Formats: sequence, structure tokens, C-alpha cells
Amino acid sequence: MKKIFCFILFLLSFVAYMGCGNAEEFEENKDVGNLTKAWDYVQINAKNVNERYRGDFHVSSPVGWMNDPNGFSYALGNYHLFFQHNPYDVKWGPMHWGHYTTKDFIKWELQPTALAPDKPYDTDFGCFSGSALEKNNKMYLLYTGVAGDRQTQCIAESDDGLKFTKTEENPIIDSVQIPADSSKSDFRDPKVFRRDNMYYMLVGSKNNDGDGQILLYRSATLKNWTYVGTTVKSPLTKPGIFECPDYAIIDQKEVLFASPQFYPTDGTMFENVHSVVYMIGNLDYQSGRFEYETVREVDGGFDFYASQTLQTPDGRTIMIAWMQMWDRTMPTAQDGYTGAMILPRELSVKDNKLIQAPVREIEKYRKNFVSYGNVPLTGSKEFSDIGGKTVELDVTFDIASGKTGLKLFCGQKEETLLYYDADSSTLVFDRTNSGLEIKTSSTKEKDAKVRRLKVDTNNGRLQLRVFLDKSSVEVFVNGGIATMTGNVYPSENSQGIKFFSDGVGNSIRSVTKYDIAI
Ligand code: FRU
Repeated sequence: MKKIFCFILFLLSFVAYMGCGNAEEFEENKDVGNLTKAWDYVQINAKNVNERYRGDFHVSSPVGWMNDPNGFSYALGNYHLFFQHNPYDVKWGPMHWGHYTTKDFIKWELQPTALAPDKPYDTDFGCFSGSALEKNNKMYLLYTGVAGDRQTQCIAESDDGLKFTKTEENPIIDSVQIPADSSKSDFRDPKVFRRDNMYYMLVGSKNNDGDGQILLYRSATLKNWTYVGTTVKSPLTKPGIFECPDYAIIDQKEVLFASPQFYPTDGTMFENVHSVVYMIGNLDYQSGRFEYETVREVDGGFDFYASQTLQTPDGRTIMIAWMQMWDRTMPTAQDGYTGAMILPRELSVKDNKLIQAPVREIEKYRKNFVSYGNVPLTGSKEFSDIGGKTVELDVTFDIASGKTGLKLFCGQKEETLLYYDADSSTLVFDRTNSGLEIKTSSTKEKDAKVRRLKVDTNNGRLQLRVFLDKSSVEVFVNGGIATMTGNVYPSENSQGIKFFSDGVGNSIRSVTKYDIAI
């Protein structure tokens, strides 16, 4: 039976080859010159995109399509973010690695395209997701080469962190090194890290029964790898795989992340087509097993996938993720680009739960401070100096009953709702009337309009730290114990921010607002 993912890939590439975008140009360029052509194309065509929805402080595709973050790392003195990139079209297609660098996770510098599909082991579908690291003053990219229905792990190296050469030894993990009970066509997204003078690689996989799993490999050199074992296995994701594994030690806790396809919805959790989950536990480096108790969702909003983490020299763990979801319409396609990343987040672990906070560097860009306190809230309330589309809001509500919250990006007919529903103890993010419609083509999610998240108030107190950036909303709840992320596409003049409550006894305990000016 044809594997579903391969079938989807086949369809997507078929559409591309039938004349969408510049597929013919891609076809002509299947040689080493391909990389230069891709970068030339980006430089010329990035000038022609419509910027109306591009976030000021979120990194996004310069032109064409962006999906997963790749190779998010600190290497050779710079922070690097690579990304799954089809420069030639606003749809997924032959995968390149685009490249940004940054000093502060807020301002990003576009660098030459790093990888193009130009070798027998990565032509057809291209260079899929992976990771990066520094070793002996060189930088290495570990990625999945996809040729037909064969996925293998490959490596490219660089002396300057800008120009990468695929090594002669590729593929460094070939199909023969995949355990017999595991899929050869769903074997991707290597996450490499170092532990006790050895390198370890986690690879997303599924077994022949369709259960999602993560495989662990070990190497002393980065080039010769030995299979160690199966890290985690989940019978819950048939027929999907555990994509994009990631691993970090945060506050002395081992945290394993993965992006399982089609993770089953459970109440208000895992409502998107695919989800990002984390598990806190212990990795046994001999057997490869990762023992854990609970699988939790990382973000309860709409648009969050394929997350990656890096360690900063000052010891922080920073996470980034694709701020988009598969199988949805993407309104910026009409503007010449698709795909953006979240505002990077600092991670910590408290009481065995992940805590997320916006990267502290964002505070450098705050302007125009406004603050109010103790405002009783019935009906609708506005403040003349609180509004805008590139804003940080920090609101604490005292909640007693009914629905209490915010209306964001308000215009004549538009509003994005973010409110606490005391009857169901849920935080609701409703983008039904936000602006341009986002449609889902997946039968897994009931809609792409409303997400709910179970949240306990702190003795009736609810804190929402909210970042608006033209076409995105990111919410950090009660100090980051939960988050919700989503894209919205309001009209140009939909700039209003309102506070509302339909219950009795609710109030704004405090609110601060900054404009974020880049
Ligand atoms: C996740 C993913 C990865 C794959 C990449 C292809 O979004 O499906 O598993 O490497 O996208 O672009």
C-alpha cells in the first residue's frame, strides 16, 4: 500500500511539475548551479512581495514558501536559523534550506540559500528538516535527503557558517541502517546533540504498523552512525509519524519534543491537524529508551509546528517553531510568500511542566509605556492610548463569572476574541471574524476558527501577556504555564483593542501596554 505521506508528497510535486510557480526552472537547474540560481531568484523576487501582513518582529519567508525551522543553533559565533524553503512558489515544493542569522532573535539577516536539492540522494523532494552544530571550528548541517520514497540522513559542512558543502560520505545513515520493523520512507528530521564525547541523533520514524516512534543513533565522528534503539513509541498516531524530534536539558530535566502527525484530539487538546508535544523523562543512552509519564501539548493555539531549541552561551534554552499549520489556506500566498516563525521563547521547567516566556531581547524594542489599574469591567471598555497592531499587552483580570477578555485588531466589522469563559474554565481564542478567512482542508480538525484551552485561574486571577504583530497573536498565560498562538489577517485599519466582560464582578486588575518598534 502506498504510504500516505509519500502520496501527499507525490501530489504536491506533481502539481509543481504541472506548471505552478517556477517548477520548469527548477527542472532545468538540477545541477550544482541550482543553489546559486535559488539565491539569485530570492534576491530578485523578494523585492516584489506585498508586505502588508509581514510581521515586524517575526521572521518570515523572504519570497516563496517557508515551513519548519531547521538547524536552529549557536555556531561559529552566530545564531543561525535555517528553514524549509521553496523559493520558487508559495506552495510546498522541492525543499531548499533558506538561512537567516541574528544577534537577538528579533532582527534577522537573510543569508545566501544554504542547501538545494542537487544530489542523487536529495533530488525530487529535496533537503528535508534537520539540525546543526559546531565541531572543531566547523559548522555541520544534518538533514534528510529525499529521493523518491527513500529518506536518508545526510551532512553538509562549512568553515564560515555561510557556504555549505555536502560531503562525499553521504548518505551517512542509509536505508540499510533502519531497523527491519520501521518505515524506510518515513525516516527523517535528524536532531543531533553531544553527550559525553559522543554524538547522538534522534530521527522521526514510524514502525510498519504505523505507530509513530523516534529512533536513536550514536556516532563518535558525525559520519559513521550506529543504531541504538527506539526512544519512544506511540500507538496513538497511526498513520502518522513523529516528525521533527528535539531534545533539551532544561533546569536539569530532560525534555523530549516531537511533532506527531494526526495526534488524536482529546477534549480541548491536540485539536490541530498535527501537534507539538513534549515529554519530561530520562533517556537511557544504552538502550535508547526514553522513560516518561505524560505527553503534553506545547501550544494550545492554531499555528505552531515543528519546534526546535538551541542553547545560548548564557545558558538559556530558546525555542522557535513554524507559525503555521499544514492543510490550511495561507492568505499571504496572494502576496508572494507564505510562512513565518513564532517569536522565539525562553523555556524553563517548573513542577515537571514546561514554562514558556517570550525571548527577553524583545524588551529592547518597547516604546510608549501605558498603564492602568483596578478598572471594574462590565460591557466594553477602551483606553484612548491602548491600541495598535505591533503591541505587547500585559493584562491581569480578576475573574468572577461569565466571559471576560480582549477584542484585538478591532475594525468596523472585524475583531479577534481572546477571553476567559468562567463557566468552562477555558481560555478561548476566536478568529471567526478576524479578517481574511483561513480554511482547513483536513478532516482531523473540526475548524480553523476557535481554539479553547483549559486554564486554572490563580485564585480568580488570570494574566495574559499578549504580542500582536500585524498578522499574529501570541498569548502567554499565567507566567507562561500555557500559550496560544495564531495567525489572523485583519484589514489595514483594524487597529482597535477593547476589553470586555458579560459577567458580574470582573475587573482589570492591571494592564500595561508597549508598542514594539523595530
Ligand atoms: C514537518 C515536515 C518534516 C519534513 C518537512 C518537509 O513539517 O513534514 O517532517 O522534513 O516538513 O518539508
